Amino acid sequence: MTEITDRAEVARILADPRFVVPEADAAATTPFDRFRAHASRFANGAPHDARRGRLDQLAEALRPAELARLAAARTRRFLEAEGTRRVEVAAIARSVPVATLAEALGFSDPPALPPLVATVAHRYASGAPTDAAAEDLAITRLLSAAPSGTDAEARVLAVQLLVQAFTATAALVEGAVRRLEASADASPSSPSTRALLLETLRDDSPVPLTRRVSPNGALVVLRLDGPDREAAAAAAEPRTLAFGAGPRACPAPHLALAIAAAIIDELRRARASEPTTDAPKPATEEAAHAESR
Ligand code: HEM
Repeated sequence: MTEITDRAEVARILADPRFVVPEADAAATTPFDRFRAHASRFANGAPHDARRGRLDQLAEALRPAELARLAAARTRRFLEAEGTRRVEVAAIARSVPVATLAEALGFSDPPALPPLVATVAHRYASGAPTDAAAEDLAITRLLSAAPSGTDAEARVLAVQLLVQAFTATAALVEGAVRRLEASADASPSSPSTRALLLETLRDDSPVPLTRRVSPNGALVVLRLDGPDREAAAAAAEPRTLAFGAGPRACPAPHLALAIAAAIIDELRRARASEPTTDAPKPATEEAAHAESR
């Protein structure tokens, strides 16, 4: 297995159609493996392109401002329920983005879905079961909560959006809060939430790596958080690869940013209105080191 760390080289490989993704088993029969085989993420060629086209349409139909409004309201409700003294940033980061997207996409019972998505997230990324029966049950429940009146593929793709969003958006929120905590001169408005998010994406990639299969069949690990020697030579900032690059890049960076910004703005407002030395808890390592989504 080869690992490529330089961002310029990683960007070139991500744009190279000869490098393909490791495929899910199309002949799989268990509920979870069938779901994984019908998602876009682990398919190549025509099946990927067709599914990706439908995903792009789903993502385009979502309005960032509406997602921000829903995410802010959910974060406020969470803070009111928990009290702002010991804010569980990780708990908010792992529930609000998925519930927000689920609501906007028309799933039934959005607040019940983040724990189901959490159950399947690792197996989705790795393909390896942890508790196969629990993962099969969770994916069956997610598919039956998906918007009704749509075909089976549309339900798979809607659930895929929730699963794709889960670990990466949580890691972005947690990374930005960590950065805020570390910033000595942080005030309610400085640094700006957008700057925090963009720096986190550049310097603390929520998705640290992805994988491709090279034209000769070798598995290649591509780091999205490595050095950028071209940029360094030009005395420029490293390029951001957090959302991937090329034809398989994330279709929803604008949605992820809208949701994450809304959550962080609410956390900052809550902290500013509550003069207390209690700070948000540090983010979990688990999400920060999550694998490619
Ligand atoms: C900070 C948050 C996010 C980050 C850092 C992120 C990152 C990524 C990356 C790196 C990839 C490409 C993987 C590869 O090339 O192998 C990807 C793919 C994808 N992401 Fe995101 N993502 C985020 C949030 C979201 C959200 C909120 C959604 C849905 C609303 C989403 C939906 C997807 C989908 C569907 C794909 C697969 C695209 C395909 O198969 O062509 N992501 N994401």
